[in-house]
Amino acid sequence: MLQLVIVALMLLPYTCGQNPAIQVLLTNKGLQYGKHVGAGWIQDMLEHVTLPDIQGNFNTLIGTIQYTLSGLKITKCDFPEPNVEFSETFSGFKTTITGLNAALTGGWAIKYHIIHDGGSFDMAILGVDVTSVVSLGRNADGHLSVNSVSCDGEVQDVNIQLYGGSSWIINPFMNYIKGHIIDEIKSNICPAVQKSVEELESRLQAMNVSYAVNQVLSLELPLTRLPVFSPSNLNLGLKGEFYSIQTHAEPPFQSKPFTMPDLPGYMLSAGVSEFSLNSAAYGYFSAKKLQILITDSMIPKLFPFHLNTSSMGPYVPQLPKLLPGLLMNLNVYATEAPMFSVQSGFVNLTVQAAVKAAAIESNGSNVPLFTLKAVVMLGGKMWIADGRMKGSVMLNNFTLTLASTEVGPFKTDNLEKMCKNGIELFGLPQVNKKLAEGMMLPRMKHVTPVNSVLTVEEGFITISSDAQVLDVL
Ligand SMILES: *[C@@H]1O[C@H](CO)[C@@H](O)[C@H](O)[C@H]1NC(C)=O
Ligand SMILES: *[C@@H]1O[C@H](CO)[C@@H](O)[C@H](O)[C@H]1NC(C)=O
Ligand SMILES: *[C@@H]1O[C@H](CO)[C@@H](O)[C@H](O)[C@H]1NC(C)=O
Ligand SMILES: *[C@@H]1O[C@H](CO)[C@@H](O)[C@H](O)[C@H]1NC(C)=O
Ligand SMILES: *[C@@H]1O[C@H](CO)[C@@H](O)[C@H](O)[C@H]1NC(C)=O
Repeated sequence: MLQLVIVALMLLPYTCGQNPAIQVLLTNKGLQYGKHVGAGWIQDMLEHVTLPDIQGNFNTLIGTIQYTLSGLKITKCDFPEPNVEFSETFSGFKTTITGLNAALTGGWAIKYHIIHDGGSFDMAILGVDVTSVVSLGRNADGHLSVNSVSCDGEVQDVNIQLYGGSSWIINPFMNYIKGHIIDEIKSNICPAVQKSVEELESRLQAMNVSYAVNQVLSLELPLTRLPVFSPSNLNLGLKGEFYSIQTHAEPPFQSKPFTMPDLPGYMLSAGVSEFSLNSAAYGYFSAKKLQILITDSMIPKLFPFHLNTSSMGPYVPQLPKLLPGLLMNLNVYATEAPMFSVQSGFVNLTVQAAVKAAAIESNGSNVPLFTLKAVVMLGGKMWIADGRMKGSVMLNNFTLTLASTEVGPFKTDNLEKMCKNGIELFGLPQVNKKLAEGMMLPRMKHVTPVNSVLTVEEGFITISSDAQVLDVL
């Protein structure tokens, strides 16, 4: 009873834990491609393995003879394409290999009292069948874990031909000891499967679930729930939350659940939620990276607006009289974390900022003038072309209001109009140029994404892709 309670308590934080902000979907198409690539690797690998020695005894009229088959090397292996499928029942994969045949060579030795004899042999192992079921899980720190659930190995037949020594005497006995050799080989199959599952498990446990994205942000990707299997796919729910490396502050909003569409036509899909994007924006905000000091030298010479109190007449009429001929600067900083809103084809962004204007005295000291509140709403589109993620943005709305002033009240309409023109004529074209060039899709060492598409759904972005594994051997 107590154990039940402990187990229930241990499960509690995960079952009602955070919704995954990134979901990764492996489809049957991806599984079959992975299996095909994997089978090729196994075939190549098998031709380089040395199998464990086989030892035993056989009884003859003259007594018991000990034999050893050692240095068993596979010289040829006919590795049939395995059958791999998702198993909902075992929350994992079921792999079946039927009719594997292999040719081996090695050395034989026998011992009978003080008589030692030996030579070489050729062996054919015929009709090996292996059925293995592994299940995927998640451990306490969110690593994916793999575990062998069941394994069954069968061997139909072996043929052995000995050479050298007194092999001509022993060859006739081989039929008697064949059964033992078949049993020995059979008993080695599942431990070998178990060992490779354990190796995979230790690799999974060594993987990082947190990555530094750049100098400001880290991305945490532990599993937030158990892997979900259906007959047609595997869905991994990852935390997918960005943090400021410096503050590691938790944002004041939470991730909402979302349902990935079935995308059987692509090998892999990843769903990135609005929360994931917003946690990145919050990371920058909490690290105080969203601020900039704008000086007159940063404004294009051709632009009919300059940060000089004497030319501010049309916007702040009293300024040229109060403090004539002084350069100004604008301290612009986000007052709230920028918020992405992802829906029906658009990735929109709202930025709320304060603009503190100051005049610069000839001795270098700043005289505060006024503070404006700016709300910028951008509408953006994203897509994938030529293997690159691209986008475009437009200005949906821009408002400027006076928050406080040291130089008396003024209307912000003209200033708002001028800033809006500045954003549309100078700011956005530069941003759009960068976005049109695009960004390479993330890729692994030997895997290239192909046929990738990006769609913007209600609350999340889906990137679906096929993969091409480059020849690594
Ligand atoms: C895993 O993370 C640690 C610490 O953050 C880092 O030192 C290590 O290089 C990372 N390993 C990989 C494979 O990324
Ligand atoms: C500011 O503008 C006035 C009038 O156009 C000009 O005389 C003055 O030199 C400017 N100040 C600076 C520091 O550029
Ligand atoms: C700079 O000059 C202004 C007036 O011209 C004066 O009020 C201020 O104290 C001076 N600041 C410094 C740091 O000298
Ligand atoms: C997002 O931006 C697009 C493009 O400007 C606009 O049509 C759409 O109405 C915006 N959506 C929201 C929710 O603001
Ligand atoms: C822009 O935002 C303001 C304030 O939220 C709103 O009153 C105005 O209607 C918006 N303008 C447009 C074109 O959406």
